[in-house]
Amino acid sequence: MSTKPRQILVTSALPYANGPIHLGHMLEYIQTDIWVRFQRLRGNDCIFVCADDAHGTPVMLKARELGITPEELVARTGENHRRDFNDFHISVDNYYTTHSPENRELATLIYKRLKAAGYIAVRSIRQFYDEQAKMFLPDRFIKGTCPRCGTPDQYGDACENCGSTYSPADLVNPVSVISGTRPVEKESEHYFFKLGDFTDFLKGWMTTSNLHPAVRAKLDEWFQMGLQDWDISRDAPYFGFEIPDAPGKYFYVWLDAPIGYMASFKNLCTKRKHLKFDDYWGKDSQRELYHFIGKDITYFHTLFWPAMLSGADFRTPTAVYAHGFLTVNGQKMSKSRGTFIQARAYLDHLNPEYLRYYFAAKLGAGVDDIDLNLDDFTQRVNSDLVGKLVNIASRCAGFLTKNFQGRLFSTQEEWKTISGTSIDADLGIEMVLLGSDDTIAEYYEKREYAAAIREIMRLTDLVNQFIDKYKPWELAKQKENKEILHRICSAAINAFRILTIYLAPVLPSFAVEAEKFLNTEGKLTWNHLAEYPTNPIHEYKPLMTRVDPAKTKAMVEASKENLEISSPKVAANMEPIFPEVSYDDFAKLDLRIARIVKAEHIKGAEKLLRLTLDLGGEMRNVFAGIKSAYAPEQLQGKLTVMVANLAPRRMKFGVSEGMVLAAGPGGKDIWLLEPHPGAQPGMRVK
Ligand code: 2FM
Ligand code: ZN
Repeated sequence: MSTKPRQILVTSALPYANGPIHLGHMLEYIQTDIWVRFQRLRGNDCIFVCADDAHGTPVMLKARELGITPEELVARTGENHRRDFNDFHISVDNYYTTHSPENRELATLIYKRLKAAGYIAVRSIRQFYDEQAKMFLPDRFIKGTCPRCGTPDQYGDACENCGSTYSPADLVNPVSVISGTRPVEKESEHYFFKLGDFTDFLKGWMTTSNLHPAVRAKLDEWFQMGLQDWDISRDAPYFGFEIPDAPGKYFYVWLDAPIGYMASFKNLCTKRKHLKFDDYWGKDSQRELYHFIGKDITYFHTLFWPAMLSGADFRTPTAVYAHGFLTVNGQKMSKSRGTFIQARAYLDHLNPEYLRYYFAAKLGAGVDDIDLNLDDFTQRVNSDLVGKLVNIASRCAGFLTKNFQGRLFSTQEEWKTISGTSIDADLGIEMVLLGSDDTIAEYYEKREYAAAIREIMRLTDLVNQFIDKYKPWELAKQKENKEILHRICSAAINAFRILTIYLAPVLPSFAVEAEKFLNTEGKLTWNHLAEYPTNPIHEYKPLMTRVDPAKTKAMVEASKENLEISSPKVAANMEPIFPEVSYDDFAKLDLRIARIVKAEHIKGAEKLLRLTLDLGGEMRNVFAGIKSAYAPEQLQGKLTVMVANLAPRRMKFGVSEGMVLAAGPGGKDIWLLEPHPGAQPGMRVK
């Protein structure tokens, strides 16, 4: 390891601000965080920045639907995202938003430089326009019948049935998803980034940046097809930054999203005065810059992004690391199967380090998809972490604390007393573990985490075999073997310490607890691997418990959304008692705890209040007929229970996305169901 610390800046892709974090996001954040923590553990200076990707049509429309401003939506979602990442032990130095003054300034600067250098072209294009909503429609907001296979209800860019891609104009019977009306074609002026001008530069960058062969092959394909101009503008209404000298035109969200990496770092510079923006982003920067991304956004990060940076006189990334998608139980994540698991749903049921470990055990440097098989997950975590790793400490610590005041066998003098016995050779176990130091470090460095875990588990097996061979529980029964007992248990505990350091990038919270038990605070770094502990250890308390399969099951149940269920039908001939419903029908109701983050009057509504409900990361807009009983300010901040899987209903004032539960005869006497204050938004009510 070189003595001079490397200076590294790392990013994960920025999640959109219109939805909650799910386990697909977590795969990337965990992958990045392991790498970042490994670098820090090695003594390198590694900064990790991120942000919410705040702009674009979906964020604008989601806010509109909720009756809040996009800024409010971004602020609320940002809070939830931060909490999720924090609870998964993601060690970001700064988590910001792309809707920030720093980002506006940098996006404007980059655009101006590109324009001055002649890299921006302006021309008119024809696009679908919704005359009722008065806006141009992104491809995903147009639906129609597939021109190839005739399947109805397909998006404007691709058919989910036959897989063909096309332009929205090719759709049969196109309809705007926003208003339900047929869109018309309309002309408008757009701004383009001339990516083709960077072909030679990008070919050069590709050879010097440490790209995985699979990513490189993809780039070769794109070069062969020829690089096209990139449309970087969108017409108002749009939530984003207005383009300088182009009123009514906004930067496309993908233009300012990666600039958000720079902006988040710039914001960090204002908090940490010693950090200098130009040191990291200046053209001649020698610092390292890495972007971790999903393979679906490779084009943006390996073509547009380096070209924009280079065209605007900034440094380019040292490397872009793409990973594959996450599948659950071998299939695409699915809401109806309960495998579209939100970060919060996972955290409500399971220890985040189980998932960190499982992902690490499966991740390599390539773009292959990763499967989270929930049975395998349970079995793997229980066997490796509880059955093997923690087992070392739990089997040996008690003998040290009971017989030797927790002190490890250490002095040369004591060593001599058993020198010459057959256990000498075996006592080299710690040396064997230390011998894998470089191999494990190299695996982490290359993002071959699965290989690192395999090696660490091979060593863990060796330590367990060592304990099995000498059986400290039997040695403890014979007085004359006390020194051997001391030596064996000390070696095992020291081995446990070494293994904990090896695993610390993956299991940071476990490592902190282990550190307390070992009484080696501040010494769980790569540099301390060979430092034999001199402090007495503390009494052992369980450092990790087994995955309870019932909890995994409960998490899946809580993630299930019954998509078939439609709006409840009230019997036309309403009797005093409604017709009976079966238990199965009743069980279809997905009742959830929700926090009323906002309650407000609606202009022109006599009975309804508009509620903005937080379902633990997801925001819902619900109209509730409780105006006669509640003033909005009484409701704000309260917890209640909602039917979360009620089909959205279009009402006079907008779309209602669920229903809150209340009871009472009416008028002033309506009471909203109020759960225990300790309940968490998003929790399922049974
Ligand atoms: O694909 C996405 O989820 C984008 N929000 C990622 C943006 S990454 C970066 F460019 F900001
Ligand atoms: Zn089709």
